[in-house]
Amino acid sequence: MDAYELIDLALKRYSPKEVAKVLEVDPKTVRRWKIRETEPPAYVADAIRQRLLPLGEAPTDPGTFRFIDLFAGIGGLRIPFEKLGGRCVFTSEWDTYAQKTYAANFHDGPGHVFAGDITQVHENDVPDHDVLLAGFPCQPFSIAGVSKKNALGRPHGFADKTQGTLFFDVARIIAAKRPKAFLLENVKNLVSHDKGRTFSTIIDVLQNELGYTVHTKVINGKHFVPQHRERIIIVGFREPVPFSWDDLHLPPIEAGPKLASILHPQDGSETVDPNYLEGPKGKVRDCYTLSDKLWEYLQNYATKHREKGNGFGFGLVTKKDTCRTLSARYYKDGSEILVDQGKKKNPRRLTPRECARLMGYPDTFRIPVSDTRAYKQFGNSVVVPVIGAVAELIVPLLDRIGEAGVVDRKVA
Ligand SMILES: C[S@@+](CC[C@H](N)C(=O)[O-])C[C@H]1O[C@@H](n2cnc3c(N)ncnc32)[C@H](O)[C@@H]1O
Repeated sequence: MDAYELIDLALKRYSPKEVAKVLEVDPKTVRRWKIRETEPPAYVADAIRQRLLPLGEAPTDPGTFRFIDLFAGIGGLRIPFEKLGGRCVFTSEWDTYAQKTYAANFHDGPGHVFAGDITQVHENDVPDHDVLLAGFPCQPFSIAGVSKKNALGRPHGFADKTQGTLFFDVARIIAAKRPKAFLLENVKNLVSHDKGRTFSTIIDVLQNELGYTVHTKVINGKHFVPQHRERIIIVGFREPVPFSWDDLHLPPIEAGPKLASILHPQDGSETVDPNYLEGPKGKVRDCYTLSDKLWEYLQNYATKHREKGNGFGFGLVTKKDTCRTLSARYYKDGSEILVDQGKKKNPRRLTPRECARLMGYPDTFRIPVSDTRAYKQFGNSVVVPVIGAVAELIVPLLDRIGEAGVVDRKVA
């Protein structure tokens, strides 16, 4: 690819202003390159590759299996399946900021389709695939209406049970495309939501309406990262395969990593990313330290709740600890994970890079959005090595399942 083509590619992902900032030139210069009015200097091609485009080369082979990434967020489910030889052929994510992070980190060739709102995509327009991945948002939905509709002799398939929910969109794609396997991920509370009715509806639809063999397990991210994060993983296969959770490799929690493994060392041993660090030792920038006002507010809030017999309002941690679940609202006050900085300084928030590490993302993962967006994106994401461990069980079984869907189950 020549420099002009790389500029075009970068401008598909970033505005001319953003490209200009990273390349340390004037936005007008970038516009001139874009319309081929002037020629970019020699360093530009390398700089675009290194600083703006996903690392590595775009895969040219078709991979050993095809998968789709629904409710993709920033691609936490995609990373391990891609590593195991899969090619992503379809992504759906409607949030433009998540799209930006996604585009900065994944190579998508001409065979890949990127869609926004999945509710607006017809299931027949989704490319054929072997594995469907979806971290669908948990929406409250009730099955109260079902028995009444049954009595009236109306259809009571999954369309009727889950219409209007995002799980319905997952179900209708599975029904139409009949992938060999799927992996769905959700908060642990999905299991107990609405007295367990939501979860049993989901399992009933997957097993009885769609005919998949379903396996579920709550897994704590703490096996891999210093964070308590319990999530329900739902795996399904179209045909019988010897899948067992007993084969899942989870390192012992007691021996799991502590926060020292994700915190900036601040001793000069880390390359200084000026977004988060400063000075020769790479000290965390002061903007991450809580203001006196916010720290006082959080302490007063915690005292008030302790007096009422409730738990602490904030989670103060050191490098020897593990931490609470990183939430999508971490950007608000950071209260669930505050890093102790000693008596002389208020505690600080984690930097977005530390959040990425806390979710098991590699340091090569690009964070092209503001801190607020980044906190939301990592707080919504998955612990990547947890998905990796499950993917290692799924992928070897794909070969045992025939190509074509066994039954063509239509939307009821
Ligand atoms: C729980 S997050 C999934 C995060 C993802 N697993 C990851 O690793 O980053 C759910 C995502 O679904 C997206 N979403 C919600 N409704 C959607 C819709 N109708 N169409 C496409 N994406 C949607 C949200 O923007 C959010 O990024």
